[in-house]
Amino acid sequence: MSVTLAFDVYGTLIDTHGVISKLQEIIGNKAQVFSHTWREKQLEYSFRRGLMQNYENFATCTDHALDYTCKYYKVSITKQQKHALLDYYFMLPAFKDVKDELADLEAANFRLFAFSNGSAETIEKLLVTAGIRNFFFGIVSVDDLKSYKPNPAVYNYFLRKARTSASNAWLISSNPFDVIGAVSAGMQSVWLKRSPDAIFDPWEIEPTIVIESLSELNTKISLIESQTNNQLSQK
Ligand code: 2OP
Repeated sequence: MSVTLAFDVYGTLIDTHGVISKLQEIIGNKAQVFSHTWREKQLEYSFRRGLMQNYENFATCTDHALDYTCKYYKVSITKQQKHALLDYYFMLPAFKDVKDELADLEAANFRLFAFSNGSAETIEKLLVTAGIRNFFFGIVSVDDLKSYKPNPAVYNYFLRKARTSASNAWLISSNPFDVIGAVSAGMQSVWLKRSPDAIFDPWEIEPTIVIESLSELNTKISLIESQTNNQLSQK
């Protein structure tokens, strides 16, 4: 059976800091730090809502995190500017390597899924706008479960929806918390270290593979898969 690849979306395929150019128009030279705080708060809000079992969708976490970030940097934006920023979040660009590498992985017979905290409707729109929807067999959203990564239930839900097993599926993510969540839930996982400065949380849980570019994915996964198949056939 083909190997299933579950691609995280925000930060892995889609560049959340693509919003910086739009932010620059509105808030000027604080745009970069603003974007980082916004993203960190968005994730923190999703973790907290997951733990509290007080689910609102990821777009709401993004919206509330934007309000927080404005307060934090003492920036005041109009309602129209806020809408423009939130609308832009549906049009964020894919990272440069994504289109070609997804095309190669699809041609190499991997089953590609997008697996995200974002609602299915939002992710559909985002992937279509970024011109990469056609590479995916399907979209799986945590929204169906009303919880968030890294709740183990959402990784198990992915496996059920994709009709695959943990031993035949890989999560690919630039977000260490997502990689750790997937490994902890029994999946194999790839950490895509997009920046040389990125730090993997120093826990007892490691990624199965680390890559610095999506172009390494096919070779490295294929190698591990063939080693596993050899071991199984020798038993
Ligand atoms: C995603 O699920 C974690 O933001 C990341 O797309």
